[in-house]
Amino acid sequence: MCGIIGYVGDKKIVPLLIEGLKKLEYRGYDSAGICVLDGGMLKSIKDKGRISELEKEEPLKWISGNAGIAHTRWATHGKPDEINAHPHFDCKKEIAIVHNGIIENYQSLKKLLIKEGHMISSETDSEIIAHLIEKFYEGDLEEAVTRVLKLLEGTYGLAVLSNKEEKIIVAKKGSPLVIGVGDGEMFIASDISPIIEHTNKIIYLSDGEVGIITKDRYIIKNIDGNGVDKKVHEVKWSIDQIEKGNFKHFMLKEIFEQPEVIRNTFRGRIKDGKIKLSLNIDFKKIKRIILTACGTSWHSAVIGKYLIEEYAKIPCEVDYASEFRYRNPMVNTDDLLIAISQSGETADTIAALKEAKGKGAKTLGIVNVVGSTISREVDSGIYLHAGPETGVASTKAFTSQIAALTLFSLYLGQESGMDIDNEILKEMEIIPEKIEKVLENSERIRNIASRFKDKNNFLYFGRGINFPVALEGALKLKEISYIHAEGYPAAEMKHGPIALIDKNMPIVFLATKSSISSKILSNIEEVYARDGKIISVVNEKTPEVEKFSEELIIVPETIEELSPIINVISLQLLAYHIADLKGLDVDKPRNLAKSVTVE
Ligand code: M6R
Repeated sequence: MCGIIGYVGDKKIVPLLIEGLKKLEYRGYDSAGICVLDGGMLKSIKDKGRISELEKEEPLKWISGNAGIAHTRWATHGKPDEINAHPHFDCKKEIAIVHNGIIENYQSLKKLLIKEGHMISSETDSEIIAHLIEKFYEGDLEEAVTRVLKLLEGTYGLAVLSNKEEKIIVAKKGSPLVIGVGDGEMFIASDISPIIEHTNKIIYLSDGEVGIITKDRYIIKNIDGNGVDKKVHEVKWSIDQIEKGNFKHFMLKEIFEQPEVIRNTFRGRIKDGKIKLSLNIDFKKIKRIILTACGTSWHSAVIGKYLIEEYAKIPCEVDYASEFRYRNPMVNTDDLLIAISQSGETADTIAALKEAKGKGAKTLGIVNVVGSTISREVDSGIYLHAGPETGVASTKAFTSQIAALTLFSLYLGQESGMDIDNEILKEMEIIPEKIEKVLENSERIRNIASRFKDKNNFLYFGRGINFPVALEGALKLKEISYIHAEGYPAAEMKHGPIALIDKNMPIVFLATKSSISSKILSNIEEVYARDGKIISVVNEKTPEVEKFSEELIIVPETIEELSPIINVISLQLLAYHIADLKGLDVDKPRNLAKSVTVE
């Protein structure tokens, strides 16, 4: 994620770009910058932090012009600071770029540029684009940009400005980019939210297209330079709708982002049947792994234990960060502590990490927010690339944590000589399509939600790697619907929770195909015999499950190790729809905060 905006026209450009960035801030907010063509010079201001910090910069008052670009950043490569903030420039500061996406082959291109004498000042993957344009520029900006695009692997929503002409060149592959067509003015942006107050005439750029934007006209071409006819859409959305992408809540939007998020977590990390992670830890010396986290991230840690023990055969323990930090844990120098956190700022997780570090353990972070405290404290790390998560109830961070843990456990196995089974690699590639199928069930799940929304209690049962999914399903329901819910390993039911079961108790069973499907089926029968109201998450309608279940949620089949990613999404939707039908504040549930930075 990241937000970009650009303008060519006669309005006061700095306030327009700043206001536009504010509307895009939901896409990232760790640093921001602006660049305007002012009297033949590219004038730029960048700042760490939010747009409100950038806005305070005095020199902005003295900048004016008729063409400019701006960016709000969600760091992926390089920490969030002023140097890594966009726009980025070529050596002569004659070409400026803003970029949203990831350039996967930037390392090799950077080496080449440095060899040729280019001074690269940031740690980003994006800056090389400006230098490559400089390399190919022979008086025709469009030509130079197109030549560069052909070299780039990865994704981009890109805007380029030079000191020569009042024009912006834009290009898109994998990251969104729209053009707003005004009367004597043109806009470009990552989405329509900053444009809609100026014009409702919108062109959606497609992958592989390049736009040449001046104040009076736009030309769209494909990457080979052939003209493309684009439809101009008349958009009738409100600003609020747009920021949430026409979803009622951020939580729902984030649930629906999961196909793309999982693609991003895997992107560039699986090549030629191998897992590519650059982790500077000598894993051969590691005898034990301790996973620590809080809340939803703790649930992904439990899934991580299953995955690591399965693929890497290294003994694993999972600890609540808040318990680990205070119980004087036994930690050795051949231990690896993995801290899992969406925010990277959870106080207990940071303290647990410091405790283990102090005792000599190696440390690894699995974190979403780039440059966060945990990401800076660990020896090595894996970023989730899930984009900003705004809804307090974590959804896309959870599934991307499972995806990252899958990569990590396969990588550990690979490093110890294991051949990675082709089947899991194939499934990892197609899992985003399977998630899309689960999302298609949203309306059906809403119907189920409407039937059960007034219940006071829920139980969630799962086994094996789907036991933590039961915990997560129950947590999602509790935190946003305020219905009491508990998750259990299904076999534990007989040791207590079975006493709770009567005709008023809904029980969600995770009953997708697994090595222990028959055991789950017995548990379902036991609940049925006590009049419990069963909602089963399954891969197909079988007579046995249908007979005992009030409702079925059918999800695509995948291999058992990846089934938590598929299964939990139906539980996220169930919790979401119940809370929404109850009219609750889904994105900001009572008493909760997105990031728990106090113990
Ligand atoms: O940012 P973190 O992943 O470290 O946050 C951990 C928990 O606070 C978080 O997962 C919390 O449980 C969420 N509300 C779950 O939806």
